Amino acid sequence: MADERPFHWEYRPEPVERELFRVEGGRPLHGTVPISGAKNAALKMLAAATLTGERCRFTNVPEIEDVRVMTDTLRDLGVVVDHPEPNVYEVASGDVDWLFVPLEAAAKMRASFILLGPLLTRFGQVIISNPGGDRIGRRPVDLHVDALRALGAEIDYRYGYYYARSPGRLRGGEVRFPFVTVMGTENAMLAATLAQGHTVIRPAAAEPEVDDLIAFLQKMGANVERTLPDTIEVHGRRRLRGAEHRVIPDRIEAGTFMVAAAVTGGDVSLRGADAGHLGAVLQTLERTGVAVESGPDFVRVSGAALRDGGFRGCDIETAPYPGLATDVQPPLCVLLTQARGTSHVHEAIFEDRLDWLGELRRMGADVTVRDAHHAEIRGPRRLHGADVDISDLRAGASLILAALAADGTTTIRGAHHVHRGYENIERKFLDLGAQIERVAEGIATPTS
Ligand code: UD1
Repeated sequence: MADERPFHWEYRPEPVERELFRVEGGRPLHGTVPISGAKNAALKMLAAATLTGERCRFTNVPEIEDVRVMTDTLRDLGVVVDHPEPNVYEVASGDVDWLFVPLEAAAKMRASFILLGPLLTRFGQVIISNPGGDRIGRRPVDLHVDALRALGAEIDYRYGYYYARSPGRLRGGEVRFPFVTVMGTENAMLAATLAQGHTVIRPAAAEPEVDDLIAFLQKMGANVERTLPDTIEVHGRRRLRGAEHRVIPDRIEAGTFMVAAAVTGGDVSLRGADAGHLGAVLQTLERTGVAVESGPDFVRVSGAALRDGGFRGCDIETAPYPGLATDVQPPLCVLLTQARGTSHVHEAIFEDRLDWLGELRRMGADVTVRDAHHAEIRGPRRLHGADVDISDLRAGASLILAALAADGTTTIRGAHHVHRGYENIERKFLDLGAQIERVAEGIATPTS
């Protein structure tokens, strides 16, 4: 088989307006913050809407850059995407003009690879770029490709593109992953909904966003079900219908605001958060001494312990759901800088997700990165303002948290990374009493 390395040498990303955040730290956050819809659910549903020619309607879609990239990519294919009001999107893909997802889309957002499964199973062919060079570890897509091959797809790799086709309908089959992959599970599941016969996916990712996608597919008429905690079964249908769905709340955004409340010694209620999806994060907060209260659609976090003796250090390890999400590891590292003793951090999912800790060290944190997967944080340390750079989405949000906790002013360059996944983040922080502004810095070329 051809070499499947990304093929990036002729790609020139479009310049973006470069912005930075300027944060004046040291103010406890107080009040209520609304939690937006989940990025990692909304993106997959927008793609899943191409499984039918009928209109699909989504509410509670976050207004973030990644959603804009996904809807632009769909429109470029010839799919009709309407945006009748904020947070509401309607998708109609009666027919498409092109079955081609270019490098420009894939390089902007790795999640565009989720279009492989639905386009292939509905239209029988697609050419899609290898998303390749993301900045968080290597993040290959080999497991997605293997899964679709297990369903009968013929997939060749040439010049950075996957050429996928299916002579007739895909056929159901056994999809066995060597370990849990969220988007790999979703791509296989989406493809199987229109395949002929029965598909079993194991181990299937158990993230709440996967189950939200299942709920949407069931409304479309798909015969798909989680039959065991780690198993999803699909009986393919000839066609699916349009459906309407409200996206679940974003548990990663919720985790980010919980840590913000804690590290500033504030008291914040998260409106619309689903505590049922936040088990591992809530347990970690409680272990450190952060006070947490939750009800059916809210979570309240108090960081009063920061003033009354401080937080306790603890060891954390990321894992597939229901374990601790890798996406909340960076925010929790900020919390651990304010906790007593040495905390060990084990990032078990991705390589490079600890690199940003170098920026946290510039703000006064006492951090040692042992290797790609292990770090130690000693605390508590008073953080101070500094000039820092954002390398990716979650690191960016975490640097804002550190800046909110720090003495003095912090300048955080690379705000566009944060807008990929957080809706109105500075507005939400301002409403909680933070002092944060977004300042234009000029024009730059995006890095991922
Ligand atoms: C999704 C989330 C991301 C989250 C991650 C883990 C979206 C859009 N993104 O990413 O926010 O951090 O789950 O919870 O939903 N892998 C392979 N080959 C593959 C696919 C994955 O080796 O073909 C590896 C990855 O490098 C990683 C591990 O599998 O080490 C898990 O990654 P995966 O669950 O697939 O992450 P994503 O679905 O890309």
